[in-house]
Amino acid sequence: MERQQVTAKRSLTKATEDLLNRQIMMEGSSSASYLSMASWCEMTGYENSAKFLYLHSDEERQHMLKIFHYVNEAGGHSIQPEIKDIKHHYSSLREVFETILDHEIAVTNSINEIVNHCYEIKDFTTMNFLNWFVEEQREEETLARRAVELFDLIGEDGVGLWTIDKEILNLIGGEGDAE
Ligand SMILES: [Fe+2]
Ligand SMILES: [Fe+2]
Repeated sequence: MERQQVTAKRSLTKATEDLLNRQIMMEGSSSASYLSMASWCEMTGYENSAKFLYLHSDEERQHMLKIFHYVNEAGGHSIQPEIKDIKHHYSSLREVFETILDHEIAVTNSINEIVNHCYEIKDFTTMNFLNWFVEEQREEETLARRAVELFDLIGEDGVGLWTIDKEILNLIGGEGDAE
């Protein structure tokens, strides 16, 4: 096999490498989707949601890079993902945050699948590496759920959407300096 000419010995299996590359793709496409959502929010006038999403997009890229470095350091080959079919238009701010919640749940399931695979083949090194992502997903799902809940708690009529947009940034402690 070509790869073994470069790295003769390694404990990372091809199956695990493929799963991690699939996760690289998922994190990369999260980053691209959230950037697209940030753009839609910014041009629609939801400035705080846009700040939140620019920041979130950066975080997803960092997640992608974390796995990227892990795979290469473990003797594998990280693949820069081809990201296609990014949605550019949304019908409402609620749709943006509902999409994020659904997406984060899908990411959690994907991480859990890889952890389960690592457990079954006793790759405790990769399993240990992925623990960070397990915890991160718990936090990200909670954050996305809180954002979606704002729409029912506050209501979208009158100044509702303006208030929701303001509260979105408070969810992450008002850190709005993602330039
Ligand atoms: Fe992520
Ligand atoms: Fe995420």
